[in-house]
Amino acid sequence: MKVALLGYGTIGKDTAALIEACPALEVAQIYVRPGKENAAEKKTSDYEAILADPEIAAVAEAMGGLEPAYSMLKAALLQKKHVVTANKQLVSVHGPELARLAEEQGVAFLFNASCGGGLPYLTSIADARQSDRLEQVGGVLNGTTNFILNAVQLKGGDFDSALKEAQRRGFAELDPSDDIEGRDTARKCILACGVAFGRLPPEQEMAIEGIASLHPADVEFFHSRGLRCRLTARAGLAEGFLNVCVQPTLVTEDDPLYNLPGGSLVWYQGVGSGRVHMTARAAHNPTASAMVRDLTTAAQGRHFPMLPTDSRLVTPRADGMVCSYYLRVNGQLPQEPVWVWHPCDAGSWCETGPLPAADVHRMAQALRREGSEVFFAALPD
Ligand code: HSE
Repeated sequence: MKVALLGYGTIGKDTAALIEACPALEVAQIYVRPGKENAAEKKTSDYEAILADPEIAAVAEAMGGLEPAYSMLKAALLQKKHVVTANKQLVSVHGPELARLAEEQGVAFLFNASCGGGLPYLTSIADARQSDRLEQVGGVLNGTTNFILNAVQLKGGDFDSALKEAQRRGFAELDPSDDIEGRDTARKCILACGVAFGRLPPEQEMAIEGIASLHPADVEFFHSRGLRCRLTARAGLAEGFLNVCVQPTLVTEDDPLYNLPGGSLVWYQGVGSGRVHMTARAAHNPTASAMVRDLTTAAQGRHFPMLPTDSRLVTPRADGMVCSYYLRVNGQLPQEPVWVWHPCDAGSWCETGPLPAADVHRMAQALRREGSEVFFAALPD
């Protein structure tokens, strides 16, 4: 199958190299910005010519951003070309519309490369959805924070050096605050919600807490209880409402998330299947390998809709998820008479009783607005 690559940064280059070794695929054209064309290297900035070429059966997008990627992919679907993309942001906003268009046109719209790298968890969740009613999805979706949490909890490392090392190894986002403040996890969770439930929560409406304010005093607490902290996403559909939250979560030794050396661990829970875990180690170029896998799936006609055709954006809730929390505050303590506060090197900590996730996320925001530093993590059930 002849493919046009859109974008020639790291992912585009790695995808082109992997396609070289894949007999079912051939790079016909590479779309680049005007001024970067080179006919000998199949680089062009003439997208109309790509659209008009009947031999090009698929486009693989690795440009990032909403525009021009959205308009270009829509135009490709209208020309009945398969679309494969690594663009999380694009799918989280325009995924439902593009999925419907692909279905109408009888072509593939696949986006495993947009999250999970070498772990095709979106396809596995989409596959499970065909035959089971999915109740929840979740897991550790971000490698950078997992790397940092392993360094500070298992190796006695410090947060900033671990983050720098994650950047050096190439896991971290361009803006690493997207990793440590939980936004990358949230963006991956949006797609998992779309695939599992056909409902995509807008990022700005989600309860998202990262690990940016983690302090060695928190790690001391985890050690003292034999717990480990992971940054997790969890989403579930109950009584017609989508509940979602991203937050630090403490797990016991018998939890599959306790020992997670690298990469990610994603789970889904189906009424029939129970809880199914999927895990992968970090790899050399997992995003490009996912692009090529999706292209091969399309070439062989094995695709089915990753997003249900009735998918839509919905306002999520976080009040249906109730946990007790470890809460540390450095500053004005919340007025909650039943909580017992213990002094530590970074303020005071307490264990709350069961609280809806929405309440603790809101409380942390209010305390921060008043100038306090806050860290919290869900305690095991
Ligand atoms: N920054 C991301 C992570 C890269 O650390 O998981 C992969 O999406």
